[in-house]
Order: sequence, then C-alpha cells, then structure tokens
Amino acid sequence: MHEDLLTIFVCIYLAITTTTAFNSCNSLRWNQTGQIVAGTTPGSNANQLKNPTCLYIDNNNTLYICDHDNNRVQKWIQGATTGVTVAGDSTGTQGSTSTLLKTPIDLTFDENGFMYVVDNGNNRLQRFASGSTSGTTVAGTTASTNALTDLKQPTAIDIDNTSNLYILDMGNTRLVEWTPNATNGTLLISDSSLNNVYGMIRVPYSSNQVYMCDQGSNKIRVWTFGASSQNMSLQTVNDSQHNTLNNPTGIVLDPYGNLYVADRDNDRIVMYCVNSTVGIVVAEDNNSVPSLKKPVALAFDSDLNLYLLSTNNGQVVKLPRI
Ligand SMILES: *[C@@H]1O[C@H](CO)[C@@H](O)[C@H](O)[C@H]1NC(C)=O
Ligand SMILES: *[C@@H]1O[C@H](CO)[C@@H](O)[C@H](O)[C@H]1NC(C)=O
Ligand SMILES: *[C@@H]1O[C@H](CO)[C@@H](O)[C@H](O)[C@H]1NC(C)=O
Ligand SMILES: *[C@@H]1O[C@H](CO)[C@@H](O)[C@H](O)[C@H]1NC(C)=O
Ligand SMILES: *[C@@H]1O[C@H](CO)[C@@H](O)[C@H](O)[C@H]1NC(C)=O
Ligand SMILES: *[C@@H]1O[C@H](CO)[C@@H](O)[C@H](O)[C@H]1NC(C)=O
Ligand SMILES: *[C@@H]1O[C@H](CO)[C@@H](O)[C@H](O)[C@H]1NC(C)=O
Ligand SMILES: *[C@@H]1O[C@H](CO)[C@@H](O)[C@H](O)[C@H]1NC(C)=O
Ligand SMILES: *[C@@H]1O[C@H](CO)[C@@H](O)[C@H](O)[C@H]1NC(C)=O
Repeated sequence: MHEDLLTIFVCIYLAITTTTAFNSCNSLRWNQTGQIVAGTTPGSNANQLKNPTCLYIDNNNTLYICDHDNNRVQKWIQGATTGVTVAGDSTGTQGSTSTLLKTPIDLTFDENGFMYVVDNGNNRLQRFASGSTSGTTVAGTTASTNALTDLKQPTAIDIDNTSNLYILDMGNTRLVEWTPNATNGTLLISDSSLNNVYGMIRVPYSSNQVYMCDQGSNKIRVWTFGASSQNMSLQTVNDSQHNTLNNPTGIVLDPYGNLYVADRDNDRIVMYCVNSTVGIVVAEDNNSVPSLKKPVALAFDSDLNLYLLSTNNGQVVKLPRI
C-alpha cells in the first residue's frame, strides 16, 4: 500500500485546509474532574458493574451499559443510584435462551426504539423491543462458522438510517452488513489483520467507509467497503510522553464529526479533529478522583458532556463540558 504517498497527500491537504476549516475542536473542552454517574466497585448488584464494555446514551440522556461479565444490559436513568436490567439476567446468569445473554459487548438502537445487542459469547445479534426482555436473534445462528449466515465472536455494531446493520465479525476477521429481515449477511470487508478489532463506526458523510479500532496494531483504521487494504490510519498523538495510542478500545463521534478514542492503556481520551491525523489529549488520568483509568467506551449526552467507561472500578464517569 502507498502509505507514504497517502501521508504526504494528507499532510499537504491539511496544510491547505487548516486556515479555512471551521474548527469545532477549539471550542470543545471538558472538566478533568469527573463525576461518577454509574457503578461503585466491581460486582453484580444493581448499583454495580463488572468489566463493562459499552456505553450508549439515548435522546433522553439515559445510559445503556453492556455489563459484560454480568451477562446483562443495564439501563441507568440520569441521577439514579442503581441500574435496571433491560436484557439478560439481573443476577448475572449467562445463557443462550431468548431472555439470556453471554458476555454482551456492544449495543445500539434503531429509530423505532429497538435495541440491538451484540451477544458476543453466543455469536449472535439480539433485538429487543422497547420494554421487552425477550430478544429475537436477527443475525447469526447457534453455529459459529464463517458461513454468511453466522457470526463468530462479533465485537461491534453500527446502524444506518434505514436500519441496515453493520457488524464487526471479529472471529471471522470481517465486517458484514445485514439488511432488515435478512437471513444472511453480505461481506463488506474481509482481511486477516482484523483479528483484534473492538469498536467500529461508519465514517460520517460516507456511505462506504468505517473506522475500526484495532487493538492489535494500536491504530484506528479507515477502510472502504470492498477494498483489500485500509485507506489510512490514525495513531499519532500530540503528547510528549506518549505520542501514539496504546490499546485503543472504543471510539465515538461528536455531532461535528470529530473522533474520540478511549486510549485504554494510556489512561486517557484522545480527540482527532475532523480531517486531522494528529490526536489531542482531552482527558487524562492523573491519579484523578474519580479515576479515569483504563477507559474502554465513550459517549456524549445532548449537552456534549463526555462520558467514559473506566474499567478500573467499573464506573461511568461524566466529564462536564466547560
Ligand atoms: C474535511 O475534508 C472533506 C473532504 O475530504 C471536506 O469536504 C470537509 O469540508 C473537511 N472538513 C473540515 C471540518 O475541514
Ligand atoms: C471542574 O469541576 C470541579 C469539581 O466539580 C469544580 O470545582 C471546578 O470549578 C470545575 N472547573 C471548571 C472550569 O468548570
Ligand atoms: C423519553 O422521555 C419521554 C418523556 O419522559 C418518554 O415519553 C419517552 O418514552 C422516553 N423515551 C425513551 C426512549 O425512553
Ligand atoms: C421485516 O419483517 C416485518 C414482519 O416480520 C415487516 O413488518 C417489515 O416490513 C419487514 N421489513 C423489511 C424491510 O422487509
Ligand atoms: C444473502 O442475502 C442477500 C439479501 O439479503 C441475498 O441477495 C443473497 O443471495 C444471500 N446470499 C446467500 C449466500 O444466501
Ligand atoms: C440516510 O443516510 C444517507 C447517507 O448514508 C443520506 O444520503 C440520506 O439523506 C439519509 N436519509 C435520511 C432520511 O436521513
Ligand atoms: C480509499 O480507498 C478506496 C479503495 O482503494 C479508493 O477508491 C478511495 O478513493 C480511497 N479514498 C480516500 C479518501 O483515500
Ligand atoms: C502540538 O501541541 C503544541 C502545543 O501543545 C502545539 O504548539 C503544536 O502546534 C501541536 N502540533 C500539532 C501537529 O498539532
Ligand atoms: C497532575 O497532577 C500534578 C499534581 O497535582 C500536577 O502538578 C500536574 O500538572 C498534573 N498533570 C496534568 C497533566 O494535569
């Protein structure tokens, strides 16, 4: 791949555009002192989480958390001191029936309020109607082969405005799309390097590209559907101590299209402004209270407050926008 040429192109392009672009980055900052909004110490009570992996905030600013090691999805209303189980068993029992989950790892919602849970340990995608704790399998089977009817250790999901589902099928090192009511997926990207990817989002204003969070190579890859290699990757961070990502685990976009990375093993959040290939540290654990250590997932509420899932204690920490 012509990565060097591409880098030169991107640099020239940025040099040309930086003076004219609207810089939403400059006006976005967060208080480094966070507030715990969910979780206490790791555990399986209603006020606890155990190795949570995903965070979703709906239009009502309600939190949904993949409580991975408790095999459940917790809904947390703003200001509540306990979560309510909306999928899986509230005491943490794992299983493969319609009311159980096994190590859920990511989730999203469609415009009709259906929740889609990546049921990683069961190699399937479960859909839940609002208010129902009984899920329907909408992708995957009880097998976990590389047939297009199956999923194998899927790790991430995204959805478009016509409810097409994009599933990062990590165990099969591929990205697949499932259209509504489909009984098989279609292949969008397939490459053996995609064996350690957690987190995936469609690139804004593109119908055929995704960001994928690659822990294996410590990069965020931008990849076009059907292409045999990536277009580019994000790895550099403007920081004197740690100038690259280290085990990036989760990504999120703000409404301006800026990308944020939970840079887990550097205990920080890195922001890549639109069209920039150099990241900026926007939050960093500095023996902070509450702890920001080992962030694995990020989300914004409607006021652009930034929430991170710290796996240090199994807590969601809110960083107010300043
Ligand atoms: C980013 O680049 C695209 C072209 O690739 C351009 O259309 C867009 O205006 C740029 N956005 C900003 C904020 O610079
Ligand atoms: C950040 O949060 C702390 C604790 O809530 C507060 O004392 C401080 O004033 C805030 N700083 C800004 C700039 O808002
Ligand atoms: C959001 O809040 C409104 C008003 O409280 C409620 O009617 C609606 O059902 C809520 N939506 C969701 C998705 O919870
Ligand atoms: C999917 O199936 C449901 C009924 O099971 C139907 O109401 C809906 O229109 C179908 N959607 C598409 C896109 O075919
Ligand atoms: C997969 O599904 C698509 C439509 O969703 C269909 O066109 C295609 O034939 C299917 N492929 C296989 C191998 O079943
Ligand atoms: C859906 O998204 C596509 C881009 O992926 C966009 O062109 C289209 O206008 C959107 N439609 C609606 C109804 O938002
Ligand atoms: C990304 O790669 C695809 C396939 O190689 C190519 O068609 C496309 O022009 C590239 N886009 C950018 C922005 O580099
Ligand atoms: C990196 O940060 C320094 C100061 O914090 C700034 O002067 C410099 O322009 C930044 N470099 C890039 C490439 O963003
Ligand atoms: C970390 O905390 C120390 C002591 O409070 C302070 O001197 C230092 O500037 C802080 N570093 C950052 C990056 O906030």
